[in-house]
Amino acid sequence: MNVHHVIFAIFFAVVAISAVLADSSQQNDVVTYEEVKALKDNTSVYLFDVRRPSELVETGFIPGAINIPIDTLEDTLKNLSSEEFSKKFNRPKPDLDTILVFYCTTGIRSAKAQKIALDLGYINAKNYLGSWRDWEAKLKAEKAT
Ligand SMILES: *[C@@H]1O[C@H](CO)[C@@H](O)[C@H](O)[C@H]1NC(C)=O
Ligand SMILES: *[C@@H]1O[C@H](CO)[C@@H](O)[C@H](O)[C@H]1NC(C)=O
Repeated sequence: MNVHHVIFAIFFAVVAISAVLADSSQQNDVVTYEEVKALKDNTSVYLFDVRRPSELVETGFIPGAINIPIDTLEDTLKNLSSEEFSKKFNRPKPDLDTILVFYCTTGIRSAKAQKIALDLGYINAKNYLGSWRDWEAKLKAEKAT
């Protein structure tokens, strides 16, 4: 092995290890259909739909979800006082340790939303990775059986 091989070997080892670490840390922050179904009636957990209002009209939404479009999320969580939040959404403003679950259509915008919330200190921000696509498909499958 010459020096280039050693450098490449170290590089790939580091890439592999960080991929594993990133994966395991994200597992806790991802929720499934069954989990969303179980928590959607729990008023101490927040389910946020971060799509545009027109998308909710078009497809429907998960019962109990609060619509905060992704481009207004940071402003809403950061700038709204508790009074303003509860006036607007009819729910108390979540605490930093409240469980927040985000979804969109395919889990991409909700991953961004999760990151925004985590960066603002919401330590229990989670992503429903399957999002609306998964919800709709599983719901249809359940109705069919
Ligand atoms: C609601 O969620 C919280 C936080 O996970 C949990 O402690 C509580 O037991 C849940 N309540 C119900 C009624 O499931
Ligand atoms: C929060 O409010 C301040 C002052 O009105 C504004 O400058 C800032 O852009 C707002 N933050 C976000 C994320 O919108």
